Amino acid sequence: MILIKLGGSIITNKERPLSPRTKTINNIAKQLKKISEPFIIVHGGGSFGHYWSVKYDMHTKPAKYDYHGVAIVKNSMIQLNKIILDSFAKNKLNPYCLPPTDFMAGNKSITSKVKEVKKIAESNLIPVTFGDAMWYGQKKSYILSGDKIMSILAKTLRPRLSIFVLNVDGLYSDFKTKLLIHDMRDQQASIQDTPMDVTGGMKRKVEEATKISKMGLKVFFVNGNKPQRIVDAIQKNKFEGTVFR
Ligand code: IPE
Repeated sequence: MILIKLGGSIITNKERPLSPRTKTINNIAKQLKKISEPFIIVHGGGSFGHYWSVKYDMHTKPAKYDYHGVAIVKNSMIQLNKIILDSFAKNKLNPYCLPPTDFMAGNKSITSKVKEVKKIAESNLIPVTFGDAMWYGQKKSYILSGDKIMSILAKTLRPRLSIFVLNVDGLYSDFKTKLLIHDMRDQQASIQDTPMDVTGGMKRKVEEATKISKMGLKVFFVNGNKPQRIVDAIQKNKFEGTVFR
């Protein structure tokens, strides 16, 4: 079982609101077709959900956010999700849409439902879920990120590998020189005092990846512009990117 998160930065053009990177999504879908092992797809919001959540000042902490914001963020995620589903279907994959409300209650996961997602993946279907605007209860809502979904699924399903597909080669120890960290183990000692490239969206990814690796599970950051690398990691044990373990 493999978990794959398609980050918003790779599936959308983050510079322009509501612009999918259709060609890139198709290229990734074509590579995913080569994978024989069961896998689950999680995708981010990028210039869809992320864009609107910033506009409506909505965050991961449950609060009484603007209801119109909740509606708009969720609508935009459905729109992006449909683009992913259509691309997968067009490339002869069998995507099966699972909004996070299918396995979450408030901000807690429903273990039996999460286990069902795995059963779906083990059939000939590919569960596709995504970060979303979620109802919390007591008139509150919150943003559930795709990164957080990765650690929620990993905790119950214990995937052999959790892959974060990015718009860069992996995690850089120095953004200016683009010095890539191949293995986070080598970095642990200096992590406290080295200011790494973990600003903004990357910071949360590193946090969730670290959380997953502390469960004793392997995590891999890879460049989605070179989607063959996703397949190489899964099928050839060849990791061109950043590994957490
Ligand atoms: C997006 O999920 C959640 C929403 C804003 C609706 P992510 O936070 O995982 O998205 P990216 O991958 O960073 O764009």
